[in-house]
Amino acid sequence: MRKIIKNGIIVTAADTYQADLCIENGIIAQIGSQLDETGAEIIDAAGSYIFPGGIDPHTHLDMPFGGTVTKDDFETGTMAAAFGGTTTVIDFCLTTKGKPLKAAVEAWHAKAKEKAVIDYGFHLQIVEANEAALNELPAMINEEGITSLKVFMAYKNQFQADDETLFRTLLAAKELGALVMVHAENGDVIDYLVKKALQEGNTAPIYHALTRPPEAEGEATGRAAALTGLAKSQLYVVHVSCAEAAEKIAAARNSGIDIWGETCPQYLVLDQSYLEKPDFEGAKYVWSPPLREKHNQEILWNALKTGQLQTLGSDQCSFDFKGQKDLGKDDFSKIPNGGPLIEDRVSILYSEGVVGGRISLNQFVDIMSTKAAKLFGLYPQKGTIAVGSDADLVIFNPDVKRVISAETHHMAVDYNPFEGMEVTGEPVSVLSRGEFVIKDKLFTGQAGAGQFIKRAKYGEAKKISAGSTITI
Ligand code: URP
Ligand code: ZN
Ligand code: ZN
Repeated sequence: MRKIIKNGIIVTAADTYQADLCIENGIIAQIGSQLDETGAEIIDAAGSYIFPGGIDPHTHLDMPFGGTVTKDDFETGTMAAAFGGTTTVIDFCLTTKGKPLKAAVEAWHAKAKEKAVIDYGFHLQIVEANEAALNELPAMINEEGITSLKVFMAYKNQFQADDETLFRTLLAAKELGALVMVHAENGDVIDYLVKKALQEGNTAPIYHALTRPPEAEGEATGRAAALTGLAKSQLYVVHVSCAEAAEKIAAARNSGIDIWGETCPQYLVLDQSYLEKPDFEGAKYVWSPPLREKHNQEILWNALKTGQLQTLGSDQCSFDFKGQKDLGKDDFSKIPNGGPLIEDRVSILYSEGVVGGRISLNQFVDIMSTKAAKLFGLYPQKGTIAVGSDADLVIFNPDVKRVISAETHHMAVDYNPFEGMEVTGEPVSVLSRGEFVIKDKLFTGQAGAGQFIKRAKYGEAKKISAGSTITI
């Protein structure tokens, strides 16, 4: 059935205007006024903004990590994402040294296929750029549509790859048209600092932050940027947490290196002091990179505003406080790293960013959706509101206030790191390819309705079949 969304204010990364939208066969068929309403379902969006669905470029759903498995899987995670105004996630497919990449991709498809309620793609981890892995890359990129590759520079003896792997991955990505992503922290230095802290009897959560100093992030970011320049390749730095890393990205960009940066909600609103909460509560705030000294927050906001950082990932990697985070009760290095953020990513950016006067409304759309769509080969199928694009839409009440709480969130975990925080603005209804996933704040979607999206190569547009022309 056709749907017409009337009276809303359409906001894209470029424009803000009042118009009606007609959806047919899951895509945006018309944008204009006085559209033919015959036989259409009419949705009145008066007083609301209409945003393109959020694109979360950084999630870990159903992922084994830190001696356990993330609590949110593709069903609970994508449902919570939809409640929060996100309609596409790109999840990290972990691979195993010595095993075919293809096997890992099949395993990740099996996790997602019957469960995802919104569309999704995968990034592919490269643990070792050996001949076997490099030989598989053309098929992964050209046939599987997995056009981004992830290298960890930290998590020694687990995920960490060496510089040779990073460099060879950058060279391959340049040749094949993929974007390389890095977790940029110096894993060797951190490993030494962690061992030393534990030897000295320092076991509390705050030592997680103290053993992963900002210099270790800045150094790795600068090294990855330099190797990208040497390879004449392209790089996306995930979860930038501090001035030391943001400055390295800005300097590399200024020198002409093709480098992009993402930050995450927790680095914009929380700080290192949260790790000192009593009764082991600090464990709820253990991320890598760690939360930083408060002064970094405005530096990150400013980098988003000026375009030195471009995207906001949730880094959704959720573990229960009781039963998972407490694996590290006597040893901070055993606290599973990560937190539940998929649901509040868009709200926090809107409330603290737009309402807080730090970014414009159009920048907000760019940061939460459009830029990720462009960088990761989804645009213009996703990431904008245009004729021919998927009708992935968020009808957003900009004025309502709500308090974030684990009591009301939809993630599967027993705490929310933003507990008690008041935010302004809320997604009311969310559509994925023209179907309501959330309607008037109720879940109306279906597990398995989300589709895997094969993405275009880096720098290329995703092909769409054009709809009718824009008539405003
Ligand atoms: O602490 C974090 N960030 N957990 C998720 C894994 C990663 O490093 O992105
Ligand atoms: Zn990471
Ligand atoms: Zn992550």
